[in-house]
Amino acid sequence: MSFYSAIRSKLSSIRLTLGNSLGSFPHIHEAEHTPNEGEIEGDPEESPLLVLCTLKGINGVPIAGATIDVWETDSKGFYDVKYAEQNDPDGRAVLTSDDEGNFFFKAIVPVPYPIPHDGPCGKLLTVLKRHPYRPSHMHFMFEKDDYDPLITALYLKNHPYESSDAVFGVKKSLLVELSKVEDKHIAQKHSVELGCALMTYDFILVTEEATKDLRQKLAAEVMESEGKKVRFLDGLPVPYVN
Ligand SMILES: [Fe+2]
Repeated sequence: MSFYSAIRSKLSSIRLTLGNSLGSFPHIHEAEHTPNEGEIEGDPEESPLLVLCTLKGINGVPIAGATIDVWETDSKGFYDVKYAEQNDPDGRAVLTSDDEGNFFFKAIVPVPYPIPHDGPCGKLLTVLKRHPYRPSHMHFMFEKDDYDPLITALYLKNHPYESSDAVFGVKKSLLVELSKVEDKHIAQKHSVELGCALMTYDFILVTEEATKDLRQKLAAEVMESEGKKVRFLDGLPVPYVN
């Protein structure tokens, strides 16, 4: 690996540690703002899922007022954009974290789906002896002033393709194990049946300042490991020349 490839790899690893891709069928901007507690999916063949999440900073302080985009496929593994006759967004919503940093909504249990594989991508996968499937997952995108934007996804633990994702998006820290709603107060509060599938996760956002410091620290470590002194120009590492 060349010196500059090493820098690029190290810097991108910071983003990859924290985040994840937009997915094979990316985010769209037409999703409606949905109050906490709302439903994001109108699939009648759905297997209902209650999603309860928190959003905090690395100091543990709740982050209120963050914008959170969520999106997933229907129970057949299709995103809404795959349906030519579908005019309104489905399986998508834009939420806002409340004063305690909570956000919660009703969705369906995610299912696996194949990435497009009827063209060159499919031929490449065949050559590589790989299947085209992505494991069951749900996408999240976070935006809040003064914080580094985060794009990520949660993957269902012990579901098919968990260890062979066609686009290599799965990370250990993003695997979640579904449980069931067993507390009648929680069921009543969120208007779901007892036994409804439950997904919980605590997300963390990093401030822009902390992210910048981390990127510079790691960039300096890489350059110094190559025996080079470093200075920063507009936030980018460059070799120090006396
Ligand atoms: Fe996806």
